[in-house]
Amino acid sequence: MQSFEPGGLAVIIGAGGGIGAAMKQALISSGAFAKVLGSARSPGPGVELPGLDLTDEPTIAATAARVKATGLEMRVLFDATGFLHGDGFSPEKSLAALDPAHMARSFAINTIGPALLMKHFLPLLPRTGKSVFATLSAKVGSIGDNQLGGWYSYRASKAALNQLVCTAAIELARKSPDAICVALHPGTVETGLSDGFAKQGLNVRKPDQASSELSEVLDRLDTRHTGGFYDYNGAALPW
Ligand SMILES: NC(=O)c1ccc[n+]([C@@H]2O[C@H](COP(=O)([O-])OP(=O)(O)OC[C@H]3O[C@@H](n4cnc5c(N)ncnc54)[C@H](OP(=O)(O)O)[C@@H]3O)[C@@H](O)[C@H]2O)c1
Repeated sequence: MQSFEPGGLAVIIGAGGGIGAAMKQALISSGAFAKVLGSARSPGPGVELPGLDLTDEPTIAATAARVKATGLEMRVLFDATGFLHGDGFSPEKSLAALDPAHMARSFAINTIGPALLMKHFLPLLPRTGKSVFATLSAKVGSIGDNQLGGWYSYRASKAALNQLVCTAAIELARKSPDAICVALHPGTVETGLSDGFAKQGLNVRKPDQASSELSEVLDRLDTRHTGGFYDYNGAALPW
């Protein structure tokens, strides 16, 4: 992690999640940041920031204010939140399974929430020197790569997230030309989110491995990558 100016701050949103918790450890171990702060909905291990719920914008604004108050330059904002299943909702296998409540929940967490993170945290990225806002998307959100169908709400909410990342990167470049805004695909990772849905034969990796690979991607990113969608090897994915 030598590409970031020393002395900065890294923030993980979703630090209680499978990938988020591992990512926080990876960024601490890198030694590249003066401070690494975690945020989650509820207090817990690795969570220093006040409770942030993506469906409650004032909690996002309050967390951003707390981050700003550290006085440190925020060099990394890593968003590891997301929703695939839970509370009776499962990825749809057919159009017949579409449920507006499921779709709304997917968009609230996978699309609108990260958009609000961009609204409140992109202005905190320094005007000069490398900084990265990365949000975890998913390859199944790729329209160009969609060969299997199904998973309507998750796919569509991640495709919309990718569009927001691309659009926000254009605006960000005007104010902070050294800053980078990307969507990342972590691969299939053993977490609560993938539990029961990771198909056999896929390369399912542990959160520690995924976070180490994602940290390397963060380190290799430069301004030519802003607005793009990349996997855990840093390879560009089709929209
Ligand atoms: N695991 C995979 O195989 C895989 C594959 C492709 C993409 N991804 C993407 O990677 C990201 C991280 O997933 P994961 O596998 O680490 O899943 P995870 O362990 O279930 O973590 C999900 C995180 O999202 C947070 N979250 C959910 N709803 C929220 C809300 N309303 N407000 C704030 N935080 C909320 C959870 O917080 P709480 O702890 O408070 O619930 C948790 O920290 C997701 O965007 C997912 O789509 C994962």
